[in-house]
Parts: sequence; C-alpha cells; structure tokens
Amino acid sequence: MKKTILTGLRPTGNLHLGHYFGAGQNYLKMQEDYDFYLEIADVQALTDNFDNPEKVRTNVYEITKDLLAIGLEPNKVHFFIQSKIPEIAELTVFYGNLVTVSRLQRNPTVKTEIAQKKELFGNDGESITYGFLGYPVSQAADITVFGGELVPVGDDQLPLIEQCREIVRKFNSIYGEILKEPQQVLSTTTRVKGLDGNDKMGKSLGNAIYLVDDEETIKKKIMGALTDTNKIKKDDPADPDKCMVYYYHKLVNSNENINKVCTECQKGTRGCVDCKKELIEAMNNFLKPIQERRKHYEDNPELVKEILEKGTQEARLKAQSTMKNVKEAMKIDY
Ligand code: TRP
Repeated sequence: MKKTILTGLRPTGNLHLGHYFGAGQNYLKMQEDYDFYLEIADVQALTDNFDNPEKVRTNVYEITKDLLAIGLEPNKVHFFIQSKIPEIAELTVFYGNLVTVSRLQRNPTVKTEIAQKKELFGNDGESITYGFLGYPVSQAADITVFGGELVPVGDDQLPLIEQCREIVRKFNSIYGEILKEPQQVLSTTTRVKGLDGNDKMGKSLGNAIYLVDDEETIKKKIMGALTDTNKIKKDDPADPDKCMVYYYHKLVNSNENINKVCTECQKGTRGCVDCKKELIEAMNNFLKPIQERRKHYEDNPELVKEILEKGTQEARLKAQSTMKNVKEAMKIDY
C-alpha cells in the first residue's frame, strides 16, 4: 500500500521559481511513490481574502494550471478544491473543542502572520477574525480527513503540523485511536532568493519570476536584477556570490555554463549586461516546456475543470470514510 501524502496551496497568485524549486520539484518525485492529495485551499485563502472572492476563484484555476504545467499528472495526483469537501468544514467544527484560543494565539506561524498584518494595516490586532485565528484547526482537518501521513511543507508551516498532531492526540485520547498523526516532509532544497537579493522570493515583495512570465517580462526582470554593487566598470572583477544573476544561472543553466560565468566574473572578463542576456536565454529555455504544457490547459479550460472534478470526487470518498469513523467514535452517528 502506498503511503498517503497531502499538501495544500492557497490560491492567491501564480507559482514562481520559489514554489518550483522549493516545492514543485519534490512533488514531481512524490507523485511517483505516494497516494498524493493536492488541495487547492480556497477556504483557507478566504480567511484573509474574504473581501476579494474573485481573486481566490480566479487563482484556483491559475494555480491548478501552474501545477499541471510543471508536470504533475492528473492520473497520479488527486487535485481537489477544499470548499468542495464539506467534511473538512465539519471536522473543523469538532476539532474546535480540542484546542484552546490561547494555544492558537501562541502558534508561531499565526503569531508571525498577525504581526505582519499589524505592520501592514497599522491596527492593534483587533481586526483579527475568528476564521483567521482558527485556520490551523481547519488545516488539521485538511490533513487528517484524508488520513494524510506525510505532509510536504516549508519550514514556516511546521508549527501548524505540530498543532495538528496535538489535536490528533487529544482526539484519540478522548474518542479512541481513530486518527493518524502526520509527519512533515521538509523540502530538501533551500528557499529561492528574490531578484533584489532578498532571502525570500514572494509576491508581496515584488521580486519574483513567475512560471507564466513571458519573454518580455523575463527580460525586464533580469535586466533589473541585483548584481555585485562593487562592480562599476564592465571589466571590473566581481564576486559572483553577491550577484543574483549568477544565483539564477546556478538554478537554470548547465554546469559547464555556470562554471564559465563564475570564473569570467571573478576575472573581470564578463560584463553584467552580457551575463544577463545569457541568463535571459537560459531562463526562457527553462520555462519553455512548462509554458508549453500550460498552454494546452489554457486552450482547454474544460480539461482543468474535469481534473479538479475527478480529484475532488476521489478525495471526497476518502473524507467521507474518515468522517464515518469520527462520528461513530464521537457518538454522533445517528
Ligand atoms: N497553509 C499552507 C500555506 O499557506 C497551505 C495549506 C492548506 C496546507 N492546507 C494544507 C499545507 C494542508 C499542508 C497541509 O502554504
């Protein structure tokens, strides 16, 4: 029997290189060996985008196309939409009794996000909603209703998996051994830096290269990328490790070219403009097969809907079977 793996993505924007190298590549390997449930977490996205439903709806399809474009296969992965599985919402309500408000407030991921919101909106946190504070509970339901044993996530998500395990232990200690405790699978690749040299590539930081970026956009972005600021003239020697152009060469270029870029940069025999032009070409070559696969789904939007429909049906069966056991254990199986 294949182990069950579950992960979720908030549909709030297109996937960028950070997603691809930080998560996507791992998903590609995992789809071969596991029973893989991939949740498009629209309900969770609404916890902080409830006033912008159009954005969430559009991005459900955008993100699904991105995931198919990187090479995930609908016959290996169950792609599903969170809101179409009412069992998740139901289980979230039951879990609400097993977690205290103060424990949620102490969850490091939630704490960081609340701090960011305060900074962003300059309020005192009074506007934090019940739904937002409770999203770790709903995420615990996401994972456990499908019997998720392994959960691939970034390190920012670890406190949420820990909280999920606590809820499972509490549930099992009261109602009997029904639920499985999930284990996280941490990404083996490091986080991808932004065009500006920021440690993180992100939509809100405006420093991302998206998988859907066309040639013109790639050109503009790479031309503006951070290089070694000590290099003034074209033939000044420079430190490639202080340059984002070299950094992306390492992600998308061949070993041979990477070595060439490095030594020529150090010797001062390579100008930044030429180096950027080479990167633009390498980046476009890297994105080409992804964008070609994507185009197939853009031209056939009904295919995307069918894939989500089928995955959701499969996921729902699994959720229903868990809920049967949960309700029996909780003595609400009337
Ligand atoms: N919270 C995750 C994120 O923001 C998305 C997510 C929703 C998720 N449900 C999940 C991740 C279940 C892992 C498991 O990236």
